[in-house]
Order: sequence, then C-alpha cells, then structure tokens
Amino acid sequence: MKTALVTGASSGIGKAIASALIDQGMTVIGLCRSVAQLPDGVTPLSCDLREESAIRSAFEELEALDILVNSAGLAYLARICDGDPSDWEEMWRVNVHALGLCSQLALPLFPESGGHILNLSSMSGHRVPPTGGFYASTKFAVRAVSEALRAELKSLGNKTRISCLSPGFVDTPLLEKYFAGREDQLAETRANIDMLTPEAIAEAAVHILTSPPGVEINDILMRSADQAM
Ligand SMILES: NC(=O)c1ccc[n+]([C@@H]2O[C@H](COP(=O)([O-])OP(=O)(O)OC[C@H]3O[C@@H](n4cnc5c(N)ncnc54)[C@H](OP(=O)(O)O)[C@@H]3O)[C@@H](O)[C@H]2O)c1
Repeated sequence: MKTALVTGASSGIGKAIASALIDQGMTVIGLCRSVAQLPDGVTPLSCDLREESAIRSAFEELEALDILVNSAGLAYLARICDGDPSDWEEMWRVNVHALGLCSQLALPLFPESGGHILNLSSMSGHRVPPTGGFYASTKFAVRAVSEALRAELKSLGNKTRISCLSPGFVDTPLLEKYFAGREDQLAETRANIDMLTPEAIAEAAVHILTSPPGVEINDILMRSADQAM
C-alpha cells in the first residue's frame, strides 16, 4: 500500500486529492493547520508552512513516503505597484519556499526505486493575468523549482518523478481571499465561468500519480471550457 503526504489537505484541491487517494487505497497523511477539516481517513500532521522549523519537525514524524503532493498555497490580491509586501512574503514562503523544503525533506523518505512529487502550479504559472499581482510569480516559481529538481534528480540517478498540475479557476475558498475587496468581480466571474471543481483536479492528480512506471507526466494545463485566458 502506498503512502502519500498531501499538504493543504484541509481545503479545496488538496482535500479532494487526499480523498481521491484514499479511494485509491493509499494511506494518506494530511499536512495543514486546520487538521479538524481533513477528510475522513486522513492522518493529521499539523504544521504551519510559514515556519521552516515547523516543517522540519513535522517531517521528523514521518518514516516512509511514496508520494508528496504539494497543494498548500494561498493567493492575495497583492499588486507590485502598491500591494503589501507582507502578503508577498507569506505567498512566497508557503507557495514556493515550503514546497521546495517539503520536497527536499521527502526525498530521503522515498523508496530506492523513487517516489513521486506532484506540485500545484496554476495557469498563472504559464501566463500573467493583468490583475494577478505577486501571486503569478510564485506559480512561475513552482514550475521553475519543479524543473530544477527534475534535472538535479536525473543527474543523481534518482528515479523520483516530478509532476505539475496547472489549473485555471477552481471554485475553492482560495478565491475569496484572491478577490477580497472586489467581490463584484468574483460574482461576475462565477456568472460567466462554470469553474473547475476540486474533484476534476483530483481526477487529473490520480491520472498523474498512477501513470505506469517510467512515465513522468510533467504538467497538465486545465481550464474550464468557459475560461478564455
Ligand atoms: N483555486 C484556484 O482557482 C486555483 C487555481 C490554480 C492553482 N491553485 C493552487 O492550488 C493549490 C490549492 O489551492 P486551493 O484552491 O485548494 O486553496 P484553499 O481551498 O484555500 O486551500 C489552501 C490549503 O493550503 C493550506 N495552507 C495555506 N497556508 C498554509 C500554511 N501557512 N501552513 C499550512 N497549510 C497552509 C490550507 O490549510 P490550513 O489553512 O488548514 O493550514 C488549505 O488546506 C494552491 O497552491 C493554489 O495556488 C488554485
């Protein structure tokens, strides 16, 4: 039976992926702060990903892993021209720094034959939305970290596979934060776009994580059929 660690398993995409991996018969550990919100059957691992020491302590509790899903993340509307740099800092720490550190700490826990890391990037990691502010830079960075790690592992002969998922709008609590102060825009977006569901993203995650040995799906770009950009 495979063991998967899913960060951000208390909400949205991470929660749907954790449930889908349970349905696949895996043992799933959910890393987040709101452990009471984890889906049934997920083993809680409480951790604030803004704190490097907390991440290191959490990983000390783990013995072996086959899969790491880095789904934890957040999006503030924090513009470069006048946004709050503390919002940039929090997004950078959770979306990029913690993702890199969790990946580094997971590697020694993977089997000799290699594990699998799945990182949540975004369509905002492929093109910069005009209102995306600092957030898009973190999602471009997720892809850069993924590519860099893949190259490093190949040079070390490590068989661990690195994948990304890059969704457009997914209807989760993240959007409330992203659209804070421009709720009318969120309502308009919801009216115009039948957004992707977390379950649709989880289906793609299962496809990636159950692909045959030797197949490394590098990225899947997914948008609602209504989303133009
Ligand atoms: N929703 C979208 O439209 C969309 C589109 C493309 C990509 N994505 C990406 O998909 C991923 C998941 O987003 P989502 O929409 O599912 O968001 P969500 O519903 O808001 O869930 C975010 C998750 O991240 C965790 N998290 C945030 N800050 C944390 C911290 N300091 N320490 C530990 N955990 C923390 C939260 O757990 P706790 O609060 O319990 O700690 C929660 O489980 C993110 O990386 C996001 O950038 C989302």
